[in-house]
Amino acid sequence: MSSKTLKLILSLVISAFSFVRITMAGDPDILTDFIVPQGVNNVDGNFFTYTGFRALVPGSQPAPTGFKIIKATMAEFPALNGQSVSYAALQFPGGTVNPPHTHPRSAELLLVAQGSLQVGFVDTTNKLFTQKLQEGDMFVFPKGLVHFQYNDDPKTTALAISAFGSASAGTVSIPSTLFNTSIDDNVLALSFKTTVATIQSLKKAFAS
Ligand SMILES: *[C@@H]1O[C@H](CO)[C@@H](O)[C@H](O)[C@H]1NC(C)=O
Repeated sequence: MSSKTLKLILSLVISAFSFVRITMAGDPDILTDFIVPQGVNNVDGNFFTYTGFRALVPGSQPAPTGFKIIKATMAEFPALNGQSVSYAALQFPGGTVNPPHTHPRSAELLLVAQGSLQVGFVDTTNKLFTQKLQEGDMFVFPKGLVHFQYNDDPKTTALAISAFGSASAGTVSIPSTLFNTSIDDNVLALSFKTTVATIQSLKKAFAS
């Protein structure tokens, strides 16, 4: 085999591998234009329309008093099934936080539509990346990494719209995963290098 042929084969193998990596990076591909749930017969424009974000139009709803998420994933908007995209609208009254969490199936591209946000994520080497975002700014949280958002301006509500490359990105909230499940108190006390009493007081805040 000539070295030219060998090089060609090698480059084909390498590009085939990178292709596999790309296609495996998101939701599975579907073999139809779209997926209609069982029992739905009349598919028209309404099926492809989601009106849940009308709640963001000023005056349409009372302003939230705590951090609030409106989701548009395939659970709320079934037409997204198979399309590998979804949205979330995040409302932050002054001083509220979206606690540290991860999305196991997608990166998150956040756009600040109103106000300002302190954001950050931690990579797998435990390095923290933070930014203070102004209205109009975007920030990307890489897939699967722990991240948070915080509105430190007590007077202004912040609104952010987040796009996901999955119809069902999933959310693992770190505080509730640890302190609002039945993980044994001793396991948590040893893990956090603290006492069982401290763990129980943290758990109590979630139970109420
Ligand atoms: C804790 O978990 C329960 C049961 O899953 C849930 O109803 C409750 O809202 C959670 N509490 C908090 C503060 O997340």
